[in-house]
This record gives sequence, C-alpha cells and structure tokens, in this order.
Amino acid sequence: MNNNIPISRRSFVAIGVGVTCSNCSFNSTNKKSLNVIQANELPIPELLRGESVNGKQQYNLTMQQGSMDFVIGKKTKTLGYNGNFLGPTLLMYKGENVEINVHNELGEASTTHWHGLHLPPEMDGGPLQKIEHGQSWLASFLIKNEAATYWYHPHLLHKTGEQVYKGLAGLLIIKDTKNSVKLPEQYAVDDIPIIVQDREFDDDGSLYYSGDKLGVKAEHILVNGGIVPNFTAPAQLIRFRILNASNARIYNFGFSDQRQFHQIATDGGLLENPVVLTRLKLSPGERAEIILDLNQQENTQLSFMSFSSEMKNINPFWNKDAMDKNDFTVMTIKVVAATAQAITSLPEKLSDIHFLDETKVKETRILKMKMPMFGAMTINGESMDMDRIDIRVKLNTSEIWEIVNDTDLPHPFHIHAVQFQIIKRDGIKPAKNERGWKDVVLVAPGESVSFITHFSDYANPTIPYMYHCHILEHEDNGMMGQFVIDA
Ligand code: C2O
Ligand code: CU
Ligand code: CU
Repeated sequence: MNNNIPISRRSFVAIGVGVTCSNCSFNSTNKKSLNVIQANELPIPELLRGESVNGKQQYNLTMQQGSMDFVIGKKTKTLGYNGNFLGPTLLMYKGENVEINVHNELGEASTTHWHGLHLPPEMDGGPLQKIEHGQSWLASFLIKNEAATYWYHPHLLHKTGEQVYKGLAGLLIIKDTKNSVKLPEQYAVDDIPIIVQDREFDDDGSLYYSGDKLGVKAEHILVNGGIVPNFTAPAQLIRFRILNASNARIYNFGFSDQRQFHQIATDGGLLENPVVLTRLKLSPGERAEIILDLNQQENTQLSFMSFSSEMKNINPFWNKDAMDKNDFTVMTIKVVAATAQAITSLPEKLSDIHFLDETKVKETRILKMKMPMFGAMTINGESMDMDRIDIRVKLNTSEIWEIVNDTDLPHPFHIHAVQFQIIKRDGIKPAKNERGWKDVVLVAPGESVSFITHFSDYANPTIPYMYHCHILEHEDNGMMGQFVIDA
C-alpha cells in the first residue's frame, strides 16, 4: 500500500517500571525502574493580563531555565516562561493592541511563536524571528482573532521539538467583550486550562528526549506540568480548554463512565452549536473547548482518559507504543459542592460562523506530505529551506489547500497567519465538531483533507509564514514550508 514505511525505529529506552503512576497498568519488560511523583492537585498556570500602557496591553515573558520535582529523589532540569515549566496563560481581548516583550535567558537561541494568531509575518515568532540568549524581542500586534484558546511555543529551526519538550509552551486565551453567550469563564474555577503532554525521564531524573525522527512519545502523562493530577471540580458546568501540547502523541479523550460531553469550540473560535461527543481525538497543536456537565454530582469521582486502544490507522512501527495500545488516565476528577455563580445550562446557539465561499476561490493547491526512507521529510518533494519561498499567495483572496498524506503515519497539518475551514475529509463533509475555525488538521495515513482559507490584512513579499506538520520531530526534520502574501 505504501513504500514509505520507516523500518529502522530507534529502540525504546528509559521507560519507567514500578512507577507509581496510574497509567502503568500494562506490563512491560526490560524497563528501568524510576519512581515518578504523581501530582496531587491540578497545577494551574498563572493568568497574565499584562498592563495597559498608552493604549497598549503589555506583557513580559522570560524564557528561562528551571527545575521540577518529577522523579522521587531527583531534580529534573526544565525550561519555562516566567517559571520552571510551561508558562503563564496570557489573557487578551479581541480588538486590543498588545505588546509582548520576550526575553531569552535559556543559554541558547530560541523564538516564541503565537500559534493560531492572525498577525504580521514579522511578529509571528517563527524561525526567522530568532532571539539569541540574553536578547529580547518585542512582538506587537492587534488582536483580530475570534475568542478562543490559542498558545505560544518556541519555533527555532530544528530545535522546536526539544525546546517544547523541556517545558516551553503556554496558553493564550482571547476573549471578546461583544460575545454575549453565557459560558463558564471563571479561570481555574469552572474555566480550566488543560495542557496535555507526555514525558519520559532518564535515570538521573533528567527529561529524556530521544529525538526520534518519527515523533517523540513518552509514557508519563502531564496536565499543566503535573503527572496525572487530580482536579477538584465544583458540581456544575465545567469548561475544559484542552491543548494537545505533546510533541507527537495523538489522544482520544473521553471520560471513565463513558458519559457524553459537548464540544463548544475548535482551534479558532466557537462552533455554531455545541456538539455531543463521547470521544474527542486531538492531535499535537490542536485545541478544543468542551463542557463537562457535573450538575448534581457532588461527592462523585471520574477520570478524564485517553481511549487510545480505539484509535484506527495504527502504524506498527510507531503508533503501537504501549500507550497507544491501552486506555489510560490523563487526570482524575473529584466533584465537590457547586460554587455560587455557576452556569447551569448550556446555550443551544454559540455563534454564527461566516463560511467562506468555495466558488470564489482564486487558487487550489495540493500539498503532499512524504517521509522518504532516507533523508529529510518533505512537502511536495521539498524539505524546509529558510532561503526558499515555496508558495506565494495573493492578499485578499481565498484558496483551497488539499493536504495529502502519502505516508504510513498521521500528520497534523498546521498553517500560520490564518484560520481555515475544513471542507472535505476524504471526499466527504467533516464531522460536526470539525465544522469550525481551525489552524491544525489531522490527516490520517492515506487520507486527503481540503480546507478553504482567506488571506487578508498583512501582505509582505519577503517575510514568510510557515506551514508544517505539528508533530514537532517531523517539522524539525523538514516537513515544513514557507509562504508569503503578496499585495
Ligand atoms: Cu504551533 Cu508553526 O506552530
Ligand atoms: Cu503556528
Ligand atoms: Cu508529520
């Protein structure tokens, strides 16, 4: 069926045994013994609103080194924004001008990219906006995106995977004061950031980053930097803003009691109506907002899980690692009394999405992702070259991009600068929960996905934006290209 099967997979090493985590119910031999420290309560990243100065909302982020207690008796060296691991949740409002001063104290070069945001290319924080150690970079732009959950992370060429793995990532929440739908929005009370990652530790407690070209997956699941934590939830409607910030792992989320929940938002905005689900597949880079109904459920317990054993399109060389063969707990939930200002019912109508007109498309392009047995990974036969512009699009036009996956691994395709609408997945309309604004779309092996998008506001003939696979090791190994918007 496919001759691109990567056959020489790096052998697994440094996988813990006798671990105290609840995920390790499956048996595996020849593992090292390592005891990780399971988090008690769900860590909550600080909410950073910044300061208003001369009509601009100003934020300070410092990329720095830190250490965490992930392994019993050891210190784990990490990286973080304004702290030891991950970063604060930036809160911004649609229509405001923001200025983010990013200072690099990592001891090495990096960048900080605002994933999902519509902004000028020089403010994007991609591989071109490099920040050397000791230097600062000022990103300033107008918030034009819809209210939704976005994120930020490093994007240095060939180094993104490792820097994110060590801890550099954070959420960015955009709100809209004009939005009148009543949804849970008390941060850390009923509006909960859920950053899901997987990590591996070496004998000395250090983060073990194998650099596996096929994608780095690991055995310990972290939410907001805590290993399989517990979330104490009030008995009311709870909103999860879920970000898959893992380098390569795809999750198939659901709850231990198989309950239904509602998805209310995709990467770049609210859906038109809540969509009932029992499973939510989320690939690296993607976000989803869901509503969990805990009304009247005080004193009960449940778990937020990944039903990974159910996932299809499994590649035997990569996808079937121990975690993908099994269902596992991501976070436990203990339900306590409701709070005073609980939202008790979910609105039926969330938004009106302006669907782009397929008959007014200027250009249709096909982008084919490949993983040759040897050499770099490619899109349309080319692997990332900072000196080459791959695609030129025209300002104020719409295009359809058809993403073709000609490999045996799944690839979450991401494009900078814009949000898009999926029009077809393998020839048919996408599922209801994918009919909203997106900036990452998972393309399964052999599949092709078409989306429509519109390029507006920021023309620049020389400074490109990126598009790439969001499995960070694929991106780092060349599965990325550059496009510019011509006036
Ligand atoms: Cu989240 Cu180009 O990246
Ligand atoms: Cu991005
Ligand atoms: Cu990929």
